[in-house]
Amino acid sequence: MPVKKVVVIGAGSVGATTAYNFALADWVDELVLIDINRNRAEGEAMDIADGTVFSGTVKVYAGSYEDTKDAVVVVFAAGANQRPGETRLDLAGRNLNVLRDVIEKLCKYWSGGVLLIVTNPVDVLTYAAQKFSDLPSNLVIGTGTVLDTARFRYLLSKHCKVDARNVHAYVLGEHGDSSVCVWSSNTIACVHVDEFCKHRGIPIPDRKEFSDKVKRAAAEIIARKGATYYSISLGIRRVCEAVIRNQNSVLTVSGLIDGQYGITGTAFSLPTVIGQKGRIEVLDISLPQEEEQELINSANILKQVQREHGL
Ligand SMILES: NC(=O)c1ccc[n+]([C@@H]2O[C@H](COP(=O)([O-])OP(=O)(O)OC[C@H]3O[C@@H](n4cnc5c(N)ncnc54)[C@H](O)[C@@H]3O)[C@@H](O)[C@H]2O)c1
Repeated sequence: MPVKKVVVIGAGSVGATTAYNFALADWVDELVLIDINRNRAEGEAMDIADGTVFSGTVKVYAGSYEDTKDAVVVVFAAGANQRPGETRLDLAGRNLNVLRDVIEKLCKYWSGGVLLIVTNPVDVLTYAAQKFSDLPSNLVIGTGTVLDTARFRYLLSKHCKVDARNVHAYVLGEHGDSSVCVWSSNTIACVHVDEFCKHRGIPIPDRKEFSDKVKRAAAEIIARKGATYYSISLGIRRVCEAVIRNQNSVLTVSGLIDGQYGITGTAFSLPTVIGQKGRIEVLDISLPQEEEQELINSANILKQVQREHGL
């Protein structure tokens, strides 16, 4: 069996927490941390490696770009995060420079696999990563609205008093202020969420209130503790598990859009089947006109940012 090696570039809050989560997984053999701050990568790797005595047999170390050669997945989590009051899109200029620098070094050694972009604005960086790397578009994935979808399902599950795993709901489009909470097809046990609430005497969720809560979730956390990393690290782990274990999981990851809803020339999230070959199929689900229009607006906002940054 070939060694399942994962490389995490950026050993900050998100990268280190992700690495810690990988050390707890039984489907990763080797884990490499790379950071421009070598000491940071070494310190995090040493701390995680000490714990593998309790957690499993994953080999963890701080490395260099040469170590990416045979990685099945490379996670890009390097660069600036939002300061209070900043939007994700405000980070584009700074983080596109970091991405360009990293991809140039990565492409010298990496024999290819799935490149998972996490750094914000994740959709703009996913689009740029495909251009900078020239990798096939199925292999360049952004975490997109994986976390927003989790937040939406969690909020609905609390409201409806059911296990979040039984709430089927999606957030599509940009991972950011123009994200689209899909209300038309939210279900619990094959029943629309509104119907489910009616039958159980629970107030029907206020759509605007829930959408706003999903959009504001990261800002609320950043205002209190400066960053978010636990939840996204579990989202990253989920996407990587789907790839490494070839699970054909449907996840709302970001990737190049190829004509769905008439949209091209950008990357954002749609429900996508994920496996060893990355994005296997983007599901073109039918949406009411209003939600389709919200997605088109979201694409236009992303394209505007791309243009401003010469992409
Ligand atoms: N997609 C999501 O849902 C999601 C969720 C949370 C955070 N994020 C994003 O993840 C990114 C990282 O956040 P964080 O909290 O870990 O930030 P952080 O500041 O804690 O860590 C960033 C790390 O990147 C490293 N770095 C900077 N330039 C580099 C380069 N050229 N090469 C290698 N390493 C470099 C820094 O040394 C630092 O260790 C941010 O852009 C943040 O917005 C995304």
